[in-house]
Amino acid sequence: MRGAYAGELAAVGVAVGVAVLVAVGFALSPAFAWASDEPGALPRPAARQACQSVSRWTCEVAHALGRGVNLGNALDAPREGDWGLRLEPELLDRASRHFQTVRLPVRWSNHASADAQARLDEGFARRVDAVIDRLLAGGGFVILDMHHYKQLTGGPRHPNEFAVDPAVAEARLVNLWRQIAARYRDRPPRLLFELLNEPEGEARDALGDVSGLASRDRSGAAFGAASAATSTAAPARALGGVRWNRLAARALAAVRETNPERVVLIGPDDWNHPRGLIRLRLPPDRHLIVAIHSYDPFDFTHQGVPWRQPVLPLGRPCCDAAQRQTLREALDTATAWSRTTGVPLHLGEFGAYREAPMESRAAYARMVREEAEARGIGWAWWEFASDFSPVWDAGKGQWVEPLRRALGIVLSP
Ligand code: BGC
Repeated sequence: MRGAYAGELAAVGVAVGVAVLVAVGFALSPAFAWASDEPGALPRPAARQACQSVSRWTCEVAHALGRGVNLGNALDAPREGDWGLRLEPELLDRASRHFQTVRLPVRWSNHASADAQARLDEGFARRVDAVIDRLLAGGGFVILDMHHYKQLTGGPRHPNEFAVDPAVAEARLVNLWRQIAARYRDRPPRLLFELLNEPEGEARDALGDVSGLASRDRSGAAFGAASAATSTAAPARALGGVRWNRLAARALAAVRETNPERVVLIGPDDWNHPRGLIRLRLPPDRHLIVAIHSYDPFDFTHQGVPWRQPVLPLGRPCCDAAQRQTLREALDTATAWSRTTGVPLHLGEFGAYREAPMESRAAYARMVREEAEARGIGWAWWEFASDFSPVWDAGKGQWVEPLRRALGIVLSP
């Protein structure tokens, strides 16, 4: 059955994809030409991902997500504006005009009641409605992501983030999704949901036994290890293995009450790094894409970030053969998992901190784009216009040209 389906897809190829997209009302606008350095390139990657366990539409979406960007550090701050960025209409239009997909990180958890019901703050939800609708009007995909639900793991909270009783933290996630999904049930299928950004932590054994939860920081080092890349604080309650698999299944079930076929993204534990895929057990559902993140090589991408102690040294260049190999290994782990499970992938975050040498940041951006696209994986750069690794300089009102070119973003007239 699975083989037959794969064969069918291969035989019908591009025609099916376009027909399905048009059938559901998604016309590929010229602005979304699969932005490329090569004129006339098709709006889709040449390589195809494994899709034998998902619906045809889900498979087409995975490929059409293409080149994307994160609107990070705005609605995922404790309050919009806290981290210096507000999503003004001009910014939204620029992002949706130039990228096929906009990932929208939202800190829903800080805009809902602190109890198990997690009743959404209506004023905030209306603000998110307006942002989503403006982005969707651009014609591309929008990934609505549950970002920075810090209270779920009990790690250090950000300023302006309220406390939540650990006993109700998981129920809140499920109830948040029940409300969000009901709210957006009538939006076009170009709106996708992502259940949780970067579950922090992993289970100590590969089968996902929750009894021995351990955590690694984002570099892959154990918390507290004598590593230059070690961050200061481990989460109190790591979210990985069975704990994450069960919670993701509950949140997905809440979404499915009102959105039986909307494409949903779920990522592995261990910060969505492909390392976590070995523990990921997806619920049976034919409308899933798996989200992975890669900041490999980490000592390059996170050099100088002030929130890691000790700070990683500046001046490290990218990308030599060994650094490319680190990235390839992560992506190859992911594609091997995808081929076995039949669920396609999306690279939802990668980026290199602004303190790294610009020439190397551009080389890194190009390297990740090439490696992802060679595997048929759509991607989203972290981020559009804030301070980690902006491709648009909001202060100057201009593109960060080396990054724009490296990401293959074509300026439409
Ligand atoms: C986090 C950001 C961070 C970025 C790079 C994202 O997932 O939300 O706060 O700047 O990763 O580390």
